[in-house]
Amino acid sequence: MSISNIDLIEFADAALSADYTRLRRVGQRLSKAIEVGDPEAARRFRLALNRKGVPLQASGFSEMLPVDNKSRLPLIEEHQWPDSPLFLDSAGKEQFSTFLVDVQNYEKLAAAGIASKHSLLLSGPPGTGKTLLAGHIAAHLGRKLYVVRLDSLISSLLGDTAKNIRSVFDFVAGKNAVLFLDELDAVAKMRDDRAELGELKRVVNTVIQGIDSLDSSAIVIAATNHPQMLDSAIWRRFHYKLFFNLPDSDLRAELWAYFLHSGVEQNLAYRVLSALSEGLSGADIEQRALAARRLAALSSQEIDVVAIAESLILENQLHSAGVYKNTNEIRKRITRELVSKHNVSQADVGRFLGITRQAISTYLKA
Ligand SMILES: Nc1ncnc2c1ncn2[C@@H]1O[C@H](COP(=O)(O)OP(=O)(O)OP(=O)(O)O)[C@@H](O)[C@H]1O
Ligand SMILES: [Mg+2]
Repeated sequence: MSISNIDLIEFADAALSADYTRLRRVGQRLSKAIEVGDPEAARRFRLALNRKGVPLQASGFSEMLPVDNKSRLPLIEEHQWPDSPLFLDSAGKEQFSTFLVDVQNYEKLAAAGIASKHSLLLSGPPGTGKTLLAGHIAAHLGRKLYVVRLDSLISSLLGDTAKNIRSVFDFVAGKNAVLFLDELDAVAKMRDDRAELGELKRVVNTVIQGIDSLDSSAIVIAATNHPQMLDSAIWRRFHYKLFFNLPDSDLRAELWAYFLHSGVEQNLAYRVLSALSEGLSGADIEQRALAARRLAALSSQEIDVVAIAESLILENQLHSAGVYKNTNEIRKRITRELVSKHNVSQADVGRFLGITRQAISTYLKA
């Protein structure tokens, strides 16, 4: 019996992943192979294997993440890959896949001299899926996701901001990971909060140097709600840009369908909820859907989509909420909104609300 190369590779891999269980299992096989030619070496090998490993946290391994010198607060977090899907409109899907394809074909593009740095700027309103998208990119590429919240990094709790930013970039260098700079506009906001312009300049420069210092295989993604506030030199560092909008009506229908998890074919309901939720973000829709599901679960009833529609209408009309004292008034509002603003047929509105065509036309006349 000779030493198997496959076992050797697995041995090295287990050792470097600090996976002691796997290390010992492969070690057993290796020691048998060593035994054949050199029993003494095999004995020593087994002794070494039986030593207690350096204690590592619960699942085995936890990396030392950089911390702020004074407060000892972490500057960076490793996030798990998201397990919920990401819904994008067609423009978003296209930009998302362009970025992935370019990253995956880096060698080819580099050979042709047309590769670009993998720096992606995400901008758009809160709750539209920017953070989620960064997670999906990491997951698609099978890379670790390191998240830096620039707002907390810059907050006065921590010591030297520029130094902290530098240690973040030093940490990810050569790690083949995805670095996600969340709340990038926090850098720009320093302009208002800090008297010292010198420090702002230093921080901006450190971010720029950091991005420039990353090697070509690195991926840096940043997110901002206020792209117009960004320093133009930082803006230029991002070779790919993805602009998020509040979800359009198709996307809202998809989000309702996913978050309501109703399981049944309810196209009409999702279309209606989508029409009534113009201006809401994905996160807003998620929140409302979860609230409705909790209510349904606690009362052991079906999800009440009409009640969701009612609440959407009332929120749109907060200032006059008092007017809609009874269900009839609210349903009249829903009917009018759907028929005149969103071109939903009277028959569909009737089906959705569970009322007759006749009631619908009365609502529209009165
Ligand atoms: N396009 C979307 N597809 C799927 N889920 C979404 C989408 N947009 C929002 N969500 C839901 O809302 C949650 C919050 O979204 P996320 O944190 O990605 O928003 P964000 O754009 O990063 O917001 P912020 O600017 O406030 O950081 C997500 O975890 C997800 O559950
Ligand atoms: Mg976010």
